[in-house]
Amino acid sequence: MFKVNKLIISASIAASAAFFMTACNSEASASGASHSGATAASTAYANGKAVIDGGVVYPVVNGKTSDYVVDTQAESMTFNYGRTPTANELAAWDTDVTHIKLPPEGSGSVEEGEELYEAQCVMCHGDFGSGGGGYPSLSKGNAVELQKTLTNQRFDPDADGPSRFFGSYWPQASTMWWYIHDGMPHPMSKSLSVDETYALTAYMLNINEMVVDGVEVDDDYVLDQEKFSKIVMPNVDGFEPEIRGKDGIENVRAYYQDASNFGGQKVNPSERCMKDCLEPTAKPTYIAGTGISDFLPPMSTVRDLPKEEGGFDVKAAYESACAMCHSAFLAPGSSDWDSYTGEGMDVVYKKGLAGTEGGMPAKGGASFTDAEFKTIVDYLVSGK
Ligand code: HEC
Ligand code: HEC
Repeated sequence: MFKVNKLIISASIAASAAFFMTACNSEASASGASHSGATAASTAYANGKAVIDGGVVYPVVNGKTSDYVVDTQAESMTFNYGRTPTANELAAWDTDVTHIKLPPEGSGSVEEGEELYEAQCVMCHGDFGSGGGGYPSLSKGNAVELQKTLTNQRFDPDADGPSRFFGSYWPQASTMWWYIHDGMPHPMSKSLSVDETYALTAYMLNINEMVVDGVEVDDDYVLDQEKFSKIVMPNVDGFEPEIRGKDGIENVRAYYQDASNFGGQKVNPSERCMKDCLEPTAKPTYIAGTGISDFLPPMSTVRDLPKEEGGFDVKAAYESACAMCHSAFLAPGSSDWDSYTGEGMDVVYKKGLAGTEGGMPAKGGASFTDAEFKTIVDYLVSGK
């Protein structure tokens, strides 16, 4: 029983697989939103536990997180829009980008890619992939140089944080190709042709200042399948275990099945350890010093609300309520104020609020709040 949210989520997964983390809301994630066509749900919840990481539910089996699955029984959310997608529609979205898959034959140039980018991508991903506004950066410069930042802070807590971008971080260019082809532009996924995708990928390589097979990807570069197969991403060895080759996925599975590979314990998986537990067989790695203090997530996390408009205009308030008396004497920023501020601003506020025998009416005779009045006083005294 698929609802439309499944379709949306599958779309993101189709595009991002391993990189699908933050975009979808946690309720949808918790309900078992995941990849279609995986193992049956009954085995999934055998131990009744699940680890939720981003958009994916990893059931806990024998004390370990296992492959992620769809719990088709757990669908509990309903949305009153859309319709149930057909099996064919689902199949069309059901693409994994985790495997290393060479794109079909075709070609496209950096120049064409730039044109497409300007027309279809720049509004979200910024000039030259600079990102911002909540959308991911697609480049921060030279991929080889930036790759080195991935180990920053492990040794030097004061160093710049790791740059996790396509050029510096992703181990395979095929992920980029399929991501663009299947998932972008965001509102019009799957609208790009094979050649257009080559062109956009070429442009990605260009803005990441990549070198392919000894050739710099400059503005005249034309990417095709043959050249594509020769791309070596700078961070290809930055992942463990070996993910290349036809056994890549199996390697990953085997790696995560053995908890000692990442600091877990080797205990009898059929028993819960309550006492006399084994010491961890592998030392967990940790970051010395203060730990990571600043790192660059692939997504911009800026979520500023728009600046409030029509706020309190201190100059307009001064003009309307104070200027008739304060433009000659005790004018904004005037040195006349020096003889008034000697006892501190609190005294100045107080006298202004209460009025003085010297001719200052209480609150200047106006009806500002105390806070607003003080803001005007600050302006009068400082002139700004
Ligand atoms: C309407 C906004 C929008 C447009 C237009 C758009 N994208 Fe995206 N793009 C996104 C969002 C949002 C994400 C993150 C999606 C996610 O994490 O699920 C993203 C992610 C990406 C990523 C993965 C980045 C990473 O490091 O995870 C690539 C590559 C990408 N877009 C390329 C493109 C290309 C090429 C185009 C133009 C053909 C394009 N995008 C157009 C919004 C957009
Ligand atoms: C009707 C004329 C008049 C208006 C209107 C007026 N002031 Fe004054 N204000 C004065 C005079 C005169 C003094 C000098 C008083 C004194 O020396 O005791 C003064 C003094 C002050 C002082 C110093 C008080 C002290 O003794 O430390 C403050 C603060 C002040 N005004 C703020 C304002 C603000 C803010 C406004 C507008 C909201 C305002 N005034 C409007 C005439 C005015």
